[in-house]
Amino acid sequence: MSNYHIKNLEEYFQVYRKSVRDPESFWEEIAEENFMWRKRWDKVLEYDLSKPEVSWYKGAKLNITENCIDRHLYTRGDKTAIIFEPNDPSEEAEHISYKQLHERVCRFANVLKNHGIEKGDRVCIYLPMIPELAVSLLACARIGAIHSVVFAGFSATALSTRINDSDCKMVITSDGSYRGNKTIDLKGIVDEALESCPSVQTVLVAKRINSEIPMKTNRDKWLQPLLDEAYHDCEPVIMDAEDPLFILYTSGSTGKPKGMVHTTAGYMVYTAYTFKNVFQYRENDVFWCTADIGWITGHSYIVYGPLANGATTVMFEGVPSYPDFGRFWQVVEKHKVNQFYTAPTAIRALAKERLDFSENYDLSSLKILGSVGEPINEEAWHWYNDNIGKKNCPIVDTWWQTETGGIMISPIPYSTPTIPTYATLPLPGVQIALMDENGEELKGNQVSGRLCIKFPWPAMARTIWGNHERYRETYFSAFENKYFTGDGALRDSTGYYRITGRVDDVIIVSGHNLGTAPIEDAINEHPAVAESAIVGFPHDVKGNALYGFVILKEIGETRVHENLRKEINQIITEHIGPIAKLDKIQFTTGLPKTRSGKIMRRILRKIAEKDTNNMGDISTLLNPEVVQEIMDGAI
Ligand code: WTA
Repeated sequence: MSNYHIKNLEEYFQVYRKSVRDPESFWEEIAEENFMWRKRWDKVLEYDLSKPEVSWYKGAKLNITENCIDRHLYTRGDKTAIIFEPNDPSEEAEHISYKQLHERVCRFANVLKNHGIEKGDRVCIYLPMIPELAVSLLACARIGAIHSVVFAGFSATALSTRINDSDCKMVITSDGSYRGNKTIDLKGIVDEALESCPSVQTVLVAKRINSEIPMKTNRDKWLQPLLDEAYHDCEPVIMDAEDPLFILYTSGSTGKPKGMVHTTAGYMVYTAYTFKNVFQYRENDVFWCTADIGWITGHSYIVYGPLANGATTVMFEGVPSYPDFGRFWQVVEKHKVNQFYTAPTAIRALAKERLDFSENYDLSSLKILGSVGEPINEEAWHWYNDNIGKKNCPIVDTWWQTETGGIMISPIPYSTPTIPTYATLPLPGVQIALMDENGEELKGNQVSGRLCIKFPWPAMARTIWGNHERYRETYFSAFENKYFTGDGALRDSTGYYRITGRVDDVIIVSGHNLGTAPIEDAINEHPAVAESAIVGFPHDVKGNALYGFVILKEIGETRVHENLRKEINQIITEHIGPIAKLDKIQFTTGLPKTRSGKIMRRILRKIAEKDTNNMGDISTLLNPEVVQEIMDGAI
């Protein structure tokens, strides 16, 4: 079993070497000893990265919810699976045991079946962080339906694009959601989205805020009465290892989001394995990941990874600032959280506040702290280490992506010595290559290049829903037979990795990936706008903020510009969501372009970053004169 639970650095290196020397027997042993299979696999791994086609545990049969729930019933039936901590601290937390979770998932699965949902059907889930969210994912998985969770901060347009892309038959939502001292009318957003979604037959509505909302006859149904009536047990549908488990959308370099498809067996094995090792989870620990289940971090490390290990996982409905900036730490004290996993943007926001917000609480239960979603800067790392971990909790800076399904590069606590801003070493089974611009692999240490993975791992996404060619083109065409991550990284003299940031047109704002193209498309919809370009610039809380350069069809007066700025952000909110709003908008008469008409974002980035001393050679531009104008008008 030692492969499954690494305890020191020497063991890490042994296990890592084995995982590279003989990946198949490495992943076979882990799968064999820790999960419940209805039929064993015929072959551990088959792959061809040029196509790319990858299958793990081919021929195996299983149901992931049997692994996440049923098999714990005898040994952990009364153990808490999920602790639900509501938005309002005066509302009681809910402790859902494995037995109760089993019953809730079964009832929900029967409701899905009663509404005609079958294996392979797509179900869109647009819910706040309430227990029904976790339960609905598992209910889909119970009957082999493919869940597609859309983060409940996305707009109606973004929601309908995602529903239509995968022809969802059903939407699961709620009457509304709480967010700090605000409520949000989620059902209203769904109604608007569904005006253009012909595939949706049923909308199940959970009650959360008890608001009066219109219900469309024959389409909309209150969830609770259906659950009450449904039978409390539901046989799992037995799935093939490579049957899709879920679709999760991520933004890309074109306007259309990419529906990343994750399959069953490999995803389960990998998220369970990485959860156990990266968080050194022990029986009776309480694990809290603050992400929303609408993102991959929530899928893998609130739901599937923890539950596959029989863990206790916290689901938090609220925000770090409500009712005050001590909320995270109040929750840590209240539930005696042992592992705490959050994003650098939250850490930076809290580090700006008074220290007594954390000092007022007993944080002594904490053993391990985690960070994910963007590079963590040194200052935030130290604040986290000093004030939350009291210099006593290893910090795991975990690098991974929606596409990778699980954590790829991370320290293993108590084994890997940590250094601020370094994600350190690849997990077992992860074979990294840094590539130079000419497509050559950079060997040895002290090199920096494009971060690629050169061998399949079990949780890799298998395709983009409905567009395998786009999958190949996006991830496997830049470097032959390698998965290209879109990130840059350096390997230092000791072999440690540090992620240096995106090298493509994705900008990470407060930990959310935003493609520039969809935002530009939204802005260009404004009748006064001729053209636009978005770049990122450093922001001390959000990591990056967005700077938009906009060409108007007609040059307006300053007074008009102020209104236009508001309208542009409004249009972005409608098309994507408030997370994509621009911090700065500069109106200009032109954008720097190459002779082939491509916008030179490098120049715009330098202007946005106020780093204009060395602009490089601009003489080859189609319109070099515009650079000075933009520099003069910079905000
Ligand atoms: C970035 C989130 C630096 C990276 C799990 C990646 C990070 C993108 C880190 C994926 C980290 C994630 N250090 N950068 N520890 N973790 N990133 O798909 O650019 O939402 O490609 O998955 O976030 O974001 P996604």
